[in-house]
Amino acid sequence: MEFHKTEKPLRGEITIPGDKSISHRSVMFGAISQGTTEITNFLQGQDCLSTISCFRKMGIEIENTSERILVHGRGLHGLTAPTEILDVGNSGTTTRLISGILAGQDFTSELTGDASIQKRPMGRIIKPLSMMDATIESIKGNGCAPLRISGHALKGIHYQSPVASAQVKSSILLAGLYADGKTSVTEPALSRNHTEIMLRSFGATVTSEGTTASILPDPDLHGQKIEVPGDISSAAYFIVAALIVPGSEILIKNCGINETRDGILRVCRAMGADITVLNAHTSGGEAVADLLVRYTPDLKGCVIEGDIIPTLIDEIPVIAVLAAFADGTTTIRNAEELKVKESNRLDIMVHHLSEMGCDITGTEDGMIINGGKTLQGAVLDSFLDHRIAMSFAIASLACESTLTIRRADCVNISYPAFYQDLERLCR
Ligand code: S3P
Repeated sequence: MEFHKTEKPLRGEITIPGDKSISHRSVMFGAISQGTTEITNFLQGQDCLSTISCFRKMGIEIENTSERILVHGRGLHGLTAPTEILDVGNSGTTTRLISGILAGQDFTSELTGDASIQKRPMGRIIKPLSMMDATIESIKGNGCAPLRISGHALKGIHYQSPVASAQVKSSILLAGLYADGKTSVTEPALSRNHTEIMLRSFGATVTSEGTTASILPDPDLHGQKIEVPGDISSAAYFIVAALIVPGSEILIKNCGINETRDGILRVCRAMGADITVLNAHTSGGEAVADLLVRYTPDLKGCVIEGDIIPTLIDEIPVIAVLAAFADGTTTIRNAEELKVKESNRLDIMVHHLSEMGCDITGTEDGMIINGGKTLQGAVLDSFLDHRIAMSFAIASLACESTLTIRRADCVNISYPAFYQDLERLCR
């Protein structure tokens, strides 16, 4: 797919599709609750549809119309043994969270996904779930999916996680619903806390203190009404686009700004960006607001490291694009997790931005970007990673010649209407 420098600034309002993390969780928690869960603004991306398909294979009736999703939950012990392998597609969240639930069932199941999923590390959940007495194995013995999980009565543990990962934390907390006592997880830095917030609203006893989250077993979970806020990880592309294209001014409506997810806003502010938060409120325990973003001509590089990293982990590719257009040096450290996402996002960002003429160097755990140089078009592969494709579609808006993105339709994973929405703002 070919992209060209935009002749017009980005203007107008945009409502971003529902948050991916929250959409997954609303289906999962609805499935293991009593009664019906009604979800609006659910993200109809491939990843979340994979979650729906897995729960349908375990006997959960899920109605999906463009208006809303209805999940007819069957309670904590109401899932039935799937008759076929569970296909998680490209979704790490589905894989790791569902594994926590499957660890507590009294049946054996198998799950697998696409080529990317089959390379991503699952040892990080196999270890703690095994400590809880689940039988979970990597079928090929390489620490990756396909996984075979035989549920058992589980034992509550305290787990010191080596990674700040909401997927790991959530997997353990979900298994903790089926344990014989309290389960807790401490992480090196706080990762997104949607599981804690939403499980509480379904009726679980979940406490959070610093970087430790704890859960008590065997709660009565009840179906809820959930309005999914717009995904700040998707909004990030338009935020960066408006900041780098002269004359732009956009209003992003109804966007989640949970403080475990808002690192992009903090980084943009540190770079001098003109972003105003309007109409801030809470919905279902989640912070939500409208974001007014204006072109900012004199963005400055900054250092991004430490505890802020988990709060912007999925935004680093598009932050790298922003840094390429900012003056001075941006240094990103402690971001080694990017190597084990849908693709090796560190290597690919460094390679692709270099191809466009950016002065960028990869490091062990991040990158150093000397921004402010004019970027040229190139022919770049998405590596079937939705966030790589969207980041370069944004870079193309302010680069000097045609940029071709191969396999660009992988945006379907998290934002099926991304190119149409971008085009509409540039009209
Ligand atoms: C997610 C957590 C993050 C993020 C992913 C979604 C979630 O992964 O990268 O896109 O929904 O819990 P980690 O928590 O493993 O970093």
